[in-house]
Amino acid sequence: MLSDRFLWGVSTASYQIEGAVAEDGRGRSIWDTFAHTEGRIANGDTGDVACDHYHRYAEDVELMAGLGVDAYRFSIAWPRVLPTGAGTVNHKGLDFYSRLVDGLLERGIDPVATLFHWDLPQELQDKGGWLDRDTAYRFADYAAVVADALGDRVRMWITLNEPFVHTVMGHAYGTHAPGLTLGFESFPTIHHQLLGHGLAVRALRSRTGSPISIANNYSPVVLCGETDADQAAAYAYDALHNRLFTEPLLGRGYPPGFEFPVEEGDLDIIATPIDALGVNYYNPTGVRAPQSDETGLPFETVELDGYARTDFGWPVVPDGLGDLLTRLHTDYRLPLYVTESGCSYAESPDDRRRVEYLRDHIAVLDRVRASGVDVRGYFVWSLLDNFEWAEGYAQRFGLVHVDFPTGTRTPKSSYAWYRDHIAAARLGGGEDQA
Ligand code: FCB
Repeated sequence: MLSDRFLWGVSTASYQIEGAVAEDGRGRSIWDTFAHTEGRIANGDTGDVACDHYHRYAEDVELMAGLGVDAYRFSIAWPRVLPTGAGTVNHKGLDFYSRLVDGLLERGIDPVATLFHWDLPQELQDKGGWLDRDTAYRFADYAAVVADALGDRVRMWITLNEPFVHTVMGHAYGTHAPGLTLGFESFPTIHHQLLGHGLAVRALRSRTGSPISIANNYSPVVLCGETDADQAAAYAYDALHNRLFTEPLLGRGYPPGFEFPVEEGDLDIIATPIDALGVNYYNPTGVRAPQSDETGLPFETVELDGYARTDFGWPVVPDGLGDLLTRLHTDYRLPLYVTESGCSYAESPDDRRRVEYLRDHIAVLDRVRASGVDVRGYFVWSLLDNFEWAEGYAQRFGLVHVDFPTGTRTPKSSYAWYRDHIAAARLGGGEDQA
């Protein structure tokens, strides 16, 4: 059973850390293809080796044990389990996750498994990927295979990671795999991912007793303008980024104004009950009315002034986390887990700005919890510096520094700070009755 105390954790994702892309029967994913296409990733980086976590996972479990975390959120690579996306199961791939899960449980760490963190099997992409409705059914089959193998030991399931980002970056703008530039034509991938989510919830529910969730990227909208048109733009952006990926899951259907290839019964499947919402928070988004017709979008995003920025250029706004959690609690009444929160700073090993970032975000978290918002966990992105998608290894999010040529891990100051914070929070009160 999932521990019922507040969960302090860390997060990672398969393609960003594992490496070993051609080992033990793993099939190719869209990220292998994308990373090996010239000009797609900064510096020509790929995830071929990444943190070599596939071989060094035991060392990484020890690092987590040293932190004293309650839980570890990792993702399972679909092409390791089903190399062509469907059909024959690769038991060696499943065995890797089985060893990892056992290692975590031995150290008292709850395994939290994400089923899809963007590394779709290439063969499914060749058949249309998430543009094709059939992929939703293949996703549910894959969920069933994983649940049959690990369902007795995984303590919480997350179906999809950030379907918003996968659609927008991967299918509308093409800056992520699979690199499609379809604009509005990418929208069927939203419906098919959510349909896949609902089907997977059903497959998991019939096989395991562990809670089931989804990890959405949420961004509070900051209104940048005073006109009615600005208000309307902020409303439209919020519907697209936030509400679209939440309300259908709760049986409220899609917000008005969107058209999807919905078939009879789809909305019921999508609304299959879940136990919690996963919240990935990085920053708010400034929005105003479009200043020209150029994009065809009903809004325009605006850089937010007056905030410190991470090395990625993302504004640091701890209060945004509080506003977001309060709003999600008020509107949806599901238990919340912060499934990603973190920052990119190159400084190491004394990463003072990451310490400040975590301290300030966790202070806001504590404040909203004290006000009655039902938040049950906080997972730092990320345990390790890793392959940051289109940025390659240039952006470092880890509590632990990784020297990529050698794989050597060196805990940073933030690692020590988080370890001490977790220990103090447990002593300090109430953590057992989260
Ligand atoms: C999120 C992704 C995660 C990581 C962070 C920085 O959008 O889910 O994999 O790259 O951003």
